Amino acid sequence: MFFLALVLNYLAFDIISECFMAEKGLFIVFEGIDGCGKGTMITRSLDFLFSNFKEFDNIVITREPTHSQAGKQIRKLLETDKDPMTKSKQLLQLYLEDRKEHLDSLIRPIIAKKGIVLCDRYKHSTLTYQQTQGHRLQQLINAHKNMLVPDLTLILDVSVETALKRMEEGRTNFEKFEKKYFMKELRQNYLELPNFLEKENIKIVDAENSKEKVFESVKKEILKILPKH
Ligand code: TYD
Repeated sequence: MFFLALVLNYLAFDIISECFMAEKGLFIVFEGIDGCGKGTMITRSLDFLFSNFKEFDNIVITREPTHSQAGKQIRKLLETDKDPMTKSKQLLQLYLEDRKEHLDSLIRPIIAKKGIVLCDRYKHSTLTYQQTQGHRLQQLINAHKNMLVPDLTLILDVSVETALKRMEEGRTNFEKFEKKYFMKELRQNYLELPNFLEKENIKIVDAENSKEKVFESVKKEILKILPKH
């Protein structure tokens, strides 16, 4: 599969004829350190949006890295290279290439058709992970100048201890960036990111609580950018 996506065109098609069309599409990004619980929040958001906002004629879940050529090279590097600080230049180039293709082939077309894109990781991952790998934040921000700015970015914030505990369940094998010292700095970089992107709609969500409580906060933020019913 090119991406982990649920294109719900077929379901929405009948309903849409009876509803008002949405005025514009929406681009919502979920971010955070590994183990922060993005997956659950994205699935819940999809269910919520699909049941309550039928004027959006398709709602898509997607993620980065994708399964493009660049994405495949990224995954290979992540599997074979376990030191979080190595291969930073190569990875940066590949993440940018993958993102440009993702925008052109999927994100922009869906938004142009007034759909909603729920994206698991986007530029904020590069701005934090590759910053933690040693790149200058300003250089990373500049590299994204021509890329779409999300309508909403939710950074799910958990302590490194909680994230590691969640990841440890049923796993013995850790990935390149899943080292405590790296994750500590990464979390700080995520928390500071809104100060460097002041014009963007970025919200830090406390993701330490139960899934229900975290989703209440996620829902509250999503509702703020949706058309009023
Ligand atoms: P993946 O297994 O997809 O992680 P997750 O399920 O947590 O999203 O691997 C992606 C890894 O790549 C993850 O550790 C975060 C990292 N990453 C970057 O370093 N920079 C980026 O721009 C992106 C999109 C991801």
